[in-house]
Amino acid sequence: MSETVRKLAALHQAARAMNAILDPDQLLDKILSLVQEVFSLHTCAVLLYDEKEDSVKIRAERGYLPEVVENFRVKRGQGVTGYVFQTGEPIIVNDVEQWNGYIQGVAGARSEMAAPLRLEDRIIGVLDAEIQKPGAFEEGDLELFSIFANQAATAIRNANLMASLAGRTVQLEKTVNELGLLNRLGQQMNSNLDIDSLLREVLQLAKEALQFDHCAVLLSEEVDDETFLLVRAALGYREAVTRGMRIKMGEGITGRVLRSGQPMLIPDVDLNGGYIEGVSGGKCEMAAPLVVRDKVIGVLDAETTEPGAFGEDDLHLFTTFASWAAVALQNAEIHSQLERKTRQLDGKIGEINEMNLELKEYAARIEHANLDLEKRVKELMTLQEVSRAITSSLDLQDTLDAIVTMTREIVDSSTCAIRLLDDESRQMLPLDKGSATEETSVTAEHSNGELRSFLGLPLKIGNRVIGYFELGSLDEGAFDEGDRRILQVLASQAAIAIENARLFENTQQTYYETIRSLAQALEARDAYTRGHSDRVTRYSLAAASEMGLSPHSLKVIQYAGLLHDIGKIGISDSILHKRIKLSEEEWSIIRNHPLFGDSILGPLKFLSDAQEIVLRHHERWDGSGYPGHLQGEEIPIEARVIAVADAYDAMTSDRPYRDAMSHEKAVAEIEKASGKQFDPDVVTAFLAVVERVRREIEESSEI
Ligand SMILES: [Fe+2]
Repeated sequence: MSETVRKLAALHQAARAMNAILDPDQLLDKILSLVQEVFSLHTCAVLLYDEKEDSVKIRAERGYLPEVVENFRVKRGQGVTGYVFQTGEPIIVNDVEQWNGYIQGVAGARSEMAAPLRLEDRIIGVLDAEIQKPGAFEEGDLELFSIFANQAATAIRNANLMASLAGRTVQLEKTVNELGLLNRLGQQMNSNLDIDSLLREVLQLAKEALQFDHCAVLLSEEVDDETFLLVRAALGYREAVTRGMRIKMGEGITGRVLRSGQPMLIPDVDLNGGYIEGVSGGKCEMAAPLVVRDKVIGVLDAETTEPGAFGEDDLHLFTTFASWAAVALQNAEIHSQLERKTRQLDGKIGEINEMNLELKEYAARIEHANLDLEKRVKELMTLQEVSRAITSSLDLQDTLDAIVTMTREIVDSSTCAIRLLDDESRQMLPLDKGSATEETSVTAEHSNGELRSFLGLPLKIGNRVIGYFELGSLDEGAFDEGDRRILQVLASQAAIAIENARLFENTQQTYYETIRSLAQALEARDAYTRGHSDRVTRYSLAAASEMGLSPHSLKVIQYAGLLHDIGKIGISDSILHKRIKLSEEEWSIIRNHPLFGDSILGPLKFLSDAQEIVLRHHERWDGSGYPGHLQGEEIPIEARVIAVADAYDAMTSDRPYRDAMSHEKAVAEIEKASGKQFDPDVVTAFLAVVERVRREIEESSEI
């Protein structure tokens, strides 16, 4: 009895001890230790039911051989433990050799005791004890053993529950961790908005965070109304796959995922048809759809060379990862569309800006053109004025002066010169000659400084260069294209004006020569008047020089002296050569010769001053002359000089109606008429030179 009490006490203690242990393995170990202690035995075991194998297996033991532990399986009803598991009744077999269907667990065992590990509703295993001598267990032992087994079963259930709970806690923690990870991945992916770098990022995250070494992103695309998957990014895949391989919808695992939109796990590709090898030696593959707004836009694929390496957990995680990746891809797509639109908008803004610039340029050009036009109009108006100015005169010098003056008004220049070529020699005429009659004219303002700009143009009549038109400036870059254009127009007009003036001069000269010849021929016909004009000219020039008259007056006297009686061309010989005294009527005709002379010389512009003298050479100092009855200084000085010389030569020449007067008598006549018919100053000068000139004339006629 005391033994039973001891065992009960031990049992109670054991129950408390067992309930304190929550780790299943530790608990089973503790159970066996307690069994050994309480029942003083060496060999014992806890056998638990394995649902998969539908048999009872040793889960913990004392005194069993390892190979037995490994292979021992007992079906319901087999052997002692199978019997207990099936019936739920504890049993003592005091001699196993006598028990039908005994299965040996331990060598030499003779007595065996077994009790079910029973919970309220089911039996989870068997508690077994063996001793190597027959009849070792008593009924009391069995009762205690059963109670102990029941307590052990409860403890095992509790420990398992706790273990399961702990496992679930761990799982929960893992899930929480995964969610945190995925969340972080999602954030990273969403912050990456460039699609290609995002795809690389996705794979990098899959590799680093989820330990998928071989992973690929395939995106769908339409080609000729057919949908394909194209590998857009891959890690650890065969090159043939990554190099633009197309997978049709429904082909391989990824193609099937694309069609179904459902994730797929293939533990061993060898057992599944239609595998497309992504990774060399790939055995296990899983694929998850990339879904954006209910549309499968691609597939996330992972492979490994180890069959069955991926489990449902992996697939779940992978699918979640794929859904995050899809959202990130969608964001990236939206972003890239936005960027594209922004770029398009930028492009449009650029175009508009360009158009604005062009418009501005056009406006500037139009403004410039307007200014240009205004300038041109001004130029044209000026040129018209110039044209009028330079063609208003037929005098070459006047023309040249007008051209230079107008040019300097239009074009700002330091010097302006017109050089004319000599018609015959084609040599440039010297710059410093200023006479139109010498067929050259230069009106130039010489600069003291060094000329830095020069603008020159030929003066041309057709292809014939008649001279040069030159502008100089002390400033650098003083002339522009506009100046050149103006000068060109001026040059062409100047050339014509110069040519006209020259032609006009030539014509005048020819006319002059003609009438001069006529006058000489007229004088030559008559012995009485032969040489008269020449002599009058010589006396007049000498007297004028004596009086200190200007070179211009001398020139005028030169012409007027030779032509003073040109008007007599218009008087008939019968009157001119009449030997008897002329009638009053005839005298009045004779007295018209200054008027005739005036008419004849009228067209000769360069003789206009001489023409006046021809008209006035018969006026008298006291106003008794003709045709205007001018008196005193009303009569041009040249005419007053010629009047004296004319009278002297007439008196000292034979006339048809009288003989020549002597020099002395003529001089006396002249002296007598001084202050009446003649200007006294002229008379004084004439008398001072007359003898010298008379001698010179005689000498030259003798030669
Ligand atoms: Fe006369």
